[in-house]
Amino acid sequence: MFSIDEIRAQFPVLDQQVYGKPLVYLDNAATTQKPLCVIERERDYYLHENCNIHRGVHYLSQKATEAYEHARQTVASFVNARDAREIIFTRGTTESLNLLATSFEHLFFKDSSLDRFVPRDDAKQPKVLVTAMEHHSNLVPWQQMIQRHNGELLVVPMDGKGVLDLNHYEELLKEGLKVVSIAHISNVLGTINPVKQMIAMAHKYGIPVIIDGAQSIAHHPIDVQDFDCDFFVFSGHKMYAPMGIGGLYGKSEWLEKLPPYQFGGEMVDMVSFEKTTFNVLPFKFEAGTPNVGAALGLETAIQFLQSLDRKEVEAYEEKLLQSAIQQLSEIDGIRFIGQAEHRSGLVSFIIDGVHPYDLGTIIDKMGVAVRTGHHCAEPVMTCFGIPGTVRASFALYNTMEEVEILVNAVKKAAMMLR
Ligand SMILES: Cc1ncc(COP(=O)(O)O)c(C=O)c1O
Repeated sequence: MFSIDEIRAQFPVLDQQVYGKPLVYLDNAATTQKPLCVIERERDYYLHENCNIHRGVHYLSQKATEAYEHARQTVASFVNARDAREIIFTRGTTESLNLLATSFEHLFFKDSSLDRFVPRDDAKQPKVLVTAMEHHSNLVPWQQMIQRHNGELLVVPMDGKGVLDLNHYEELLKEGLKVVSIAHISNVLGTINPVKQMIAMAHKYGIPVIIDGAQSIAHHPIDVQDFDCDFFVFSGHKMYAPMGIGGLYGKSEWLEKLPPYQFGGEMVDMVSFEKTTFNVLPFKFEAGTPNVGAALGLETAIQFLQSLDRKEVEAYEEKLLQSAIQQLSEIDGIRFIGQAEHRSGLVSFIIDGVHPYDLGTIIDKMGVAVRTGHHCAEPVMTCFGIPGTVRASFALYNTMEEVEILVNAVKKAAMMLR
């Protein structure tokens, strides 16, 4: 078993008081804290290695380029991609999904021989499938693209426990879809969707599948080849890495086919006033100067996770979650939002007669940091007919004692507010 004290010693930010109470940080689904090794890696880069990459012949530039490409290789191994060319560095999940929505739009509508947008017959009114539990990041980019072309956004419904209706999904797959884009784990409900099965089902109809791994990558080993997903997107900051870095895995066949997303330096091959040709993968999708320091921090965060027994971490986090659910369920009037059998990482709830915002504000004064509101998933709130939830989300540095502090704080706040 890993030592929780040793782990926590690597996260100095946890060792502080807020409003005179020890900080209990349970907002990990929004962002995780960063271990010293990650902070030091980024600092070290700026102290000793900072340089723009890929373009310089000089020593520092070559060193920074090698480090950046090494980080790409590390990400590739971490998600078990076949090739580092299949990893694109982005700012995070949101940028990765915008990249995909834009590139698919260009693929559907841009006639490259004419170099202008022409709706092709087979792509008129594109249909994209998402689920009822998506974060706005996996909804709005598709919605925008679809609205520009009079297409249709189809939605896989879920039941009252937050479990997707796979029979309905199968029916929707027959509707002539262009893309399926689904969350691996819901950031509101904690539901782990059966993505491997859903990918296989979509592939029967020849439809590419994107997996939003923002909430899964920190908690579970990811194997994109085993999933057989066409794309997998994630954010570094939710897996102990710095903000401003994330990734997009794409099967090389797809990435070769998709047009670039942004244009500028680095992503080009040859440029004249008449015409531009584009660079090879992965550079074709990385326009401009990347966040090298954060990419190195992401590599270090991966190495930090790999230094632990991930099965053990999974089991530990599961214990935290189950203990929180069990203790919270003793509170009068509590209603859990999301009760899927397969769930992970977080618990969302409301309490009769108590506004989530008020509850979050009061327990904050007791040192407990949770998130309240719609969690960037307003349609989920609409499905459940609620304005928002209180969400406690866990990371590997949280403790059973913190779970107890959370439960006691919620009990006290509920009493004060009712
Ligand atoms: C499931 C899911 N998708 C996408 C995002 C967006 O991630 P980011 O803000 O890091 O781009 C989040 C963030 O909470 C999320 O939970």
